[in-house]
Amino acid sequence: MKKIIFSLFVALSSISVVQAADADAGKAKSGTCSACHGVNGVSASPMFPNLAGQNDVYIIKQLKDFKSGARINATMAPMAANLSETDMADLAAYFSSLPSAIEQAAASNSAGTSSSAVPAAAGNVDIVTSTPAAALYAGNVAAGQTKAAACAACHGEDGNSLIPMYPSLAGQSANYIAKQLADFKSGNRNNGIMAGMVAGLTQEDMNDLAAYFAVQSTKVGTGETNEVGHKLYLGGDSAKGITACVACHGVTGKGMKQAAFPSLTGQSQEYLTTQLNSFREGSRGNDNNGIMRNIAIKLSDADIKAVTQYITSLK
Ligand code: HEC
Ligand code: HEC
Ligand code: HEC
Repeated sequence: MKKIIFSLFVALSSISVVQAADADAGKAKSGTCSACHGVNGVSASPMFPNLAGQNDVYIIKQLKDFKSGARINATMAPMAANLSETDMADLAAYFSSLPSAIEQAAASNSAGTSSSAVPAAAGNVDIVTSTPAAALYAGNVAAGQTKAAACAACHGEDGNSLIPMYPSLAGQSANYIAKQLADFKSGNRNNGIMAGMVAGLTQEDMNDLAAYFAVQSTKVGTGETNEVGHKLYLGGDSAKGITACVACHGVTGKGMKQAAFPSLTGQSQEYLTTQLNSFREGSRGNDNNGIMRNIAIKLSDADIKAVTQYITSLK
């Protein structure tokens, strides 16, 4: 009897978890996911599975397994690492509520419209915004170059900044740049100088600027390496629960363009330090699902010094 009551209780409490799942909250949390799994849960690339219309219980189980390591995948492990049970339930509720890929294709055929994917014409760069109102745009490189004149004083003419305070934008992920500009505009990322710069920009301007800077060549790092920083970057710190930077920023620091994980290569130690401190204090909080804040909060001043020194040596 005790056992039955207990399992009833477990069943009831797990039902209440499913009921508490909030598809709208899931949509808001799905910004990062859309880069690979598509804006409407239908992936644009054959590399990534569709999530639209998938069973919610199955999605939750996969996310838990990626987090625990029961299902091993180097791309999904860091995505799941930062998700709480509520996040997983909300995301599952959102994706399972979407019409499946076949239903979405049928709907767009009957509406007589082509798919939302803008074909990459020459000189254009596709941009997936990782904001909840995600959409696929094409940014125009030539138009971006003209508009970038306003940015040159601080970010350099070709996006390679000569002043350590200001980040380089050359070779940065277009998705990441577009997201940062939108975040400065909405106030989600707080910076007085940049707020003024983006106030007058339209969505199209931001896409064009992102496209222009994304195709410029990055200056490689010229800093000295650092052994302690090297270890932290490549291996993390399991005792302190720090995920290795390499999982998201890559072996050479170039990030993951599609997922809007920024390139760190070529940034000054000063800029990198400011950003890690801001994530640690929470004064920068525009990272989806707290993905960077959860890591930065575990970094000591000495960790930040060592890892930023190492990053300046990445080629
Ligand atoms: C950088 C690309 C990328 C991002 C971003 C990403 N995923 Fe994935 N996801 C993958 C890949 C690749 C797989 C296939 C893994 C495998 O082969 O085991 C996958 C698999 C999955 C699966 C299992 C699907 C199945 O049919 O078994 C789920 C669920 C999932 N992802 C959810 C998410 C959620 C939720 C997010 C956002 C928090 C997210 N993913 C972000 C690349 C990504
Ligand atoms: C007066 C100097 C100045 C000008 C001009 C300026 N910026 Fe910035 N920009 C900054 C500063 C300072 C930061 C760092 C903000 C912070 O610490 O959050 C920044 C950050 C950025 C970032 C985020 C980079 C990253 O790695 O996260 C982007 C993107 C950006 N600027 C784009 C632009 C664009 C596009 C223009 C022109 C329309 C522009 N900026 C003009 C000073 C400037
Ligand atoms: C799970 C993925 C993940 C891991 C692991 C990770 N980062 Fe990040 N990092 C991100 C994302 C995503 C952003 C951009 C957030 C945003 O603004 O949208 C970011 C941003 C940054 C930035 C700011 C870049 C800029 O141009 O402003 C720095 C610096 C940084 N990370 C350093 C690190 C270091 C050092 C480590 C290891 C100790 C690390 N990251 C581990 C995902 C990750």
